[in-house]
Amino acid sequence: MVAMDAVTVISHRRDGLVQSAAELRAVAEAAAHGTWTDDQLAAWLMAAYLRPLTLDETADLTLAMAASGKRLDLTGLPKPWLDKHSTGGVGDKTTLVLLPLLASFGLTMVKMSGRGLGITGGTIDKLESVPGFRIDLTPAEMVAQASRIGLALTGQTPRLAPADGKLYALRDVTATVGSIPLITSSILSKKIAGGAETVVIDVKCGSGAFMRDLSSAKELAHWLTEVGRRAGLRVATHVTDMDQPLGRCAGNALEVREALAVLAGREQGRFTELCVHLAVSTLAEVGRPASEAEVRQALVGGTALAKAKEWFAAQGADISVFESENWCIAPHVHEVSWPGEPGWVKRVDAGQVGHAVVHLGGGREKKTDTIDPSVGVETLVAVGDKVEPGQTLFRVHTAGQDVPDILSAVQVVTEQIVPCSLFLG
Ligand code: URA
Repeated sequence: MVAMDAVTVISHRRDGLVQSAAELRAVAEAAAHGTWTDDQLAAWLMAAYLRPLTLDETADLTLAMAASGKRLDLTGLPKPWLDKHSTGGVGDKTTLVLLPLLASFGLTMVKMSGRGLGITGGTIDKLESVPGFRIDLTPAEMVAQASRIGLALTGQTPRLAPADGKLYALRDVTATVGSIPLITSSILSKKIAGGAETVVIDVKCGSGAFMRDLSSAKELAHWLTEVGRRAGLRVATHVTDMDQPLGRCAGNALEVREALAVLAGREQGRFTELCVHLAVSTLAEVGRPASEAEVRQALVGGTALAKAKEWFAAQGADISVFESENWCIAPHVHEVSWPGEPGWVKRVDAGQVGHAVVHLGGGREKKTDTIDPSVGVETLVAVGDKVEPGQTLFRVHTAGQDVPDILSAVQVVTEQIVPCSLFLG
């Protein structure tokens, strides 16, 4: 029989032995119930970082982490039960559009979302900028709301996948976040605990994302798919560009306003294209195919918007936000113009725009920071655009602090530029 004491489990990982499902269950249970010290969990995490888990081990760890708390029971809700996840990026408000858009096609969308940390924002912070929006639905309220209107979203609760909460917090302070098996188990355990059967995952790649280069983004996508399959979860992945900000706005209330404009069919560009593409491929994935024209019609024809209003109202939000842009407004707006010669935009550095939003107070450097939902940056040019001297590149919404350097996020060249595809794999 395998001894399950902490030192043995840690030493097996340290020595590169294959760990059994029982050993990995011991790690997850220890994280959830506090039966190992933080030092022991941190030692195991560092060993796992240096001696990465195999696909099979990662699936075992994922299932053990999912089983470390409650699982949302969606029995009785119409299938398919779908969740949607993004690995996070600057200006990534896709959830706000995709949830009501897909629910308007009859899918059941039940989602737990997180808060932002660093340059990548979080859906919960964005929705909290909307007066009245409740982000603390109980599991029973989630299920009741999803059965009534087809969608529900809540913040992460310590009752679902508590092992991930503990392990993630320790990874954050032990330089062990960037391990593909650990990221995979962290993401998928929460999806399984949330009751989903199918998950669509947008793996972001570029300067405004966790994964900076294409090969690591593709590797993460591969791991998510393969570990999902082993753990009984259908995972569809997309790798998409995050080198320039996604859409026009980065900053919480600004992003909600932009998402509502997309839902009303009023906004074009790369963000709208991403939403349409993800919706079309998700509907095909779950056997409810719809054409691109039908998805676009749901946006311009009002059905997605009507579903979004139903959703916001169900979660207590003031739905006058659908009629007016005049809510959660920052007191100052500064325009940043192009001071150089005419040319074409070669680069808009998403990472730098994200750091500017954090600097303004729209994001957190550390988990305990409070944020100002009204601040942010509107990026008015995209890679490939022609720019003229004096043209406005950014609108910076501030609470009165100094405007961070953002001009250097833009590179303009004299030859015409063809933007890279939004869809990278
Ligand atoms: N998102 C998660 O939920 N977990 C990780 O480990 C990284 C990103």
